Amino acid sequence: MAVFQEGGLMLAIPQSFLDQLKMSCDIESIVSGYVSLRRSGRTSKGLCPFHSEKTPSFFVYHDTESFYCFGCGAGGDVISFIMRIENLGYLDALKFLAERAGIPFPEEAREDPSLKIKPLIYEINRAAAHFYHDQLKSEAGAPGREYLMGERRLSTKTITRYGLGYAPSGWDNLRNYLRGKGFSDEDMLQAAVVVRGKDGKSVYDIFRNRVIFPIVDIRKNVIGFGGRVLDDSKPKYLNSPDTPVFKKSRNLFSLNFAKNVHDGKLILAEGYMDVIAMNQAGFDNVVATLGTSLTSEQARLMSNYAQEIVIAYDSDGPGRTATNRAVGLLEEAGLKTRILDMKGAKDPDEFIRKFGAERFKMLIDGARSVTEYQMGVIRAKYDLGSTEQRGAYLQEAAGYLATVPSAMERELYIGKLAEEAEIPRDAIRESVNRELRRNLRKARKKEEEGFESGRNFVRAGRQADESAQDGLIACLYHHPDWSGNIIARLPDNAFSEQAAGIYQALLSAQREGDGSLASLRERISDEQMSRLAGILARVSEGQLSITPEALEDYFRRLQGGRLEKEVRDSGNLSMEEARALAERIRRSKKG
Ligand code: CTP
Ligand code: MN
Repeated sequence: MAVFQEGGLMLAIPQSFLDQLKMSCDIESIVSGYVSLRRSGRTSKGLCPFHSEKTPSFFVYHDTESFYCFGCGAGGDVISFIMRIENLGYLDALKFLAERAGIPFPEEAREDPSLKIKPLIYEINRAAAHFYHDQLKSEAGAPGREYLMGERRLSTKTITRYGLGYAPSGWDNLRNYLRGKGFSDEDMLQAAVVVRGKDGKSVYDIFRNRVIFPIVDIRKNVIGFGGRVLDDSKPKYLNSPDTPVFKKSRNLFSLNFAKNVHDGKLILAEGYMDVIAMNQAGFDNVVATLGTSLTSEQARLMSNYAQEIVIAYDSDGPGRTATNRAVGLLEEAGLKTRILDMKGAKDPDEFIRKFGAERFKMLIDGARSVTEYQMGVIRAKYDLGSTEQRGAYLQEAAGYLATVPSAMERELYIGKLAEEAEIPRDAIRESVNRELRRNLRKARKKEEEGFESGRNFVRAGRQADESAQDGLIACLYHHPDWSGNIIARLPDNAFSEQAAGIYQALLSAQREGDGSLASLRERISDEQMSRLAGILARVSEGQLSITPEALEDYFRRLQGGRLEKEVRDSGNLSMEEARALAERIRRSKKG
């Protein structure tokens, strides 16, 4: 019996079912349904379905029943593949595969009430979307049509494409329609298309006298709605609350269209209307959040479809704050980020209506790098005519440049600043470098504090020798019988947090008798799964060795390797810093 947690519910899935499923789902034949694979020996390869590429870097391995893309780092077992490509949760992926293989899904898991309600909610949402759309086209929909087509300049084609609708005034239009279709009030409440009245008995429509934006997921299910008033009344927008099928933090508006673009780039907008206006202007690769600010889950979701994001938020103050937040989350998700510099309009929708699609395209093409954008924001705060303010400006700009990782980029802006302020380059470079050294000292201090708190074998910082960690994990995976030796000789702080998790999961799975990739699912995250699949792929490709000699090498490299690297890199330490570093090395060798 394997126990999983999904949507706050603990579910037990019989091991026999998982084994049966594994037996009947050959990874190559499943993947072939999505990717055209060419086989050679024990390996098949093809074009990665998770990022756009022209030469194949997506591999399927038969021995380990795993896949890995050397281009984007996606990897895992057959279930990870289905979760990713169909955008399903773990349970839904199991169901999907079971259905395909003709294996009955175990009763235990079926009994979960939230699983039964989902298809019903989809059905109710779809019926509601139809109702709203038909209303928009009917006589009663005149105010909605007037608003969308007259005021917002949407074409019939756009309205149809997005299935836009109109919720008429009145308290029970949708409710009565859905009752007529045989849905119960209870189920409508679950779908959150109605709310319960104050009397605690009757239910009435949530959306009244609003234009309706259905929210559709990438499987074309209607998962929720946004509704906008036709005038200036408040609240301007009303969104469905979260339901068993609708998680605002995990979905993106219009991703169902944007995901088909495949050019590695997505535009991120603030609102429904911006997305729709951009679509009408010919940009399909646009998404927006669903009435909340961007989450890290959404950033990761985007990274499944693109490597670069252009942020096209409002040009006002709140828009700028939201941009700053989004930049951080997108960069954390490994996405290259650019920022639209929009003048003369408050948002993309208004810009397109005022200046047309052509000029908007120029705006997108000219979107600025994050550094350029931030430098602009800092510059706008100061009056450069005043000597005093110019000094403060240079101070803040230098402080910001010291956080830019690329030396080349720093140098570029040091040059620009020098020109702008008519100050020698060297003076500015000196002050940027001073900030850099300060940041470095702070980072070291923080790291050292982490060191002292003695987090067992978890190594702080990112400079760890990743490939030696991977090698060690590879040895353990392929030679479970070496585990005694490995445990005994594993150096302190050998692993990053992520690798430590894989290592521990592997050890406990092996102890229980099955250390295969698939058996680790309950113990490791999706990212860790991808990393492990990458490790196995590199072993198969001969890039990572698993011989006893290699193991010795990994031990050596993980033994205090980081500190030695730091000494090599520490060209210009102060006496005091050098002494502190030496002390740390001495301590780590002792322990
Ligand atoms: N929003 C919301 N609730 C509000 C206001 C806004 O959920 N009371 C969300 C909506 O998802 C909206 C987005 O924030 O699409 C952007 O809001 P705003 O910039 O105010 O709206 P616009 O898209 O510019 O709306 P419009 O052009 O229709 O005025
Ligand atoms: Mn707007």
